[in-house]
Amino acid sequence: MKVLAIHGSPREGGNTEILLNSFLEGVREAKGEVERVSLYKLKFSPCIECGECDHLGECVLKDDMEGLYRSYLEADLLVVATPIFFYCHTSYVQAFFERFQAFWARKYRLGLPHPKGKTPKGLLLSLGATKGKRLFEGLIRTFKFVMDAGWGVYVGGLFFRGIDKKGEILEHTDILNRANKLGYQVIKEPEETWEIERSSSP
Ligand SMILES: Cc1cc2nc3c(=O)[nH]c(=O)nc-3n(C[C@H](O)[C@H](O)[C@H](O)COP(=O)(O)O)c2cc1C
Repeated sequence: MKVLAIHGSPREGGNTEILLNSFLEGVREAKGEVERVSLYKLKFSPCIECGECDHLGECVLKDDMEGLYRSYLEADLLVVATPIFFYCHTSYVQAFFERFQAFWARKYRLGLPHPKGKTPKGLLLSLGATKGKRLFEGLIRTFKFVMDAGWGVYVGGLFFRGIDKKGEILEHTDILNRANKLGYQVIKEPEETWEIERSSSP
């Protein structure tokens, strides 16, 4: 089982990174294979809507997404960890998502299957400062379409409210234990038993 883990916050050592690391500790304990990427360290642009992928089935932009495209096609599980910024994911995550347009074109314009015949699963780890009732709806809706473009399927995630100051999540050992346990589960257990939120408005 190969896990591609995306850290989508620009804040190094922040809440999202701590949450993701707890999850990945569980993955590693269970002997899962991990590639972890902090998007803010990469150089890549959002989709420029050049339309080349419509007939090539590939993105023509030469930047750090080239490696991420390859990693995604190898992965069985894509984990996107992002704080909520203005009721959605960060701009780094949005740029990453937009670049899935090349997969969308390959799948829907050219009718091509996943090159390795996989159906990757998509998982979210997210948190925000407020108690907003519909805080995660935008992120989930978008990610469902992103996973579909990448021949995959969104399965659910972990979502936490009321986490704001840098490192504040360290006070919530229950949350970190939950993420750690989930990391172990995704490697060792069938998806139906993963302890995740599956609703579109958790
Ligand atoms: C630009 C920006 C926008 C934000 N928008 C929201 C928001 O809409 N709702 C919310 O609950 N928290 C919002 N927050 C708070 C962050 O989600 C919160 O501080 C989170 O813990 C940051 O995680 P990090 O340490 O991983 O970056 C925002 C923070 C920033 C910097």
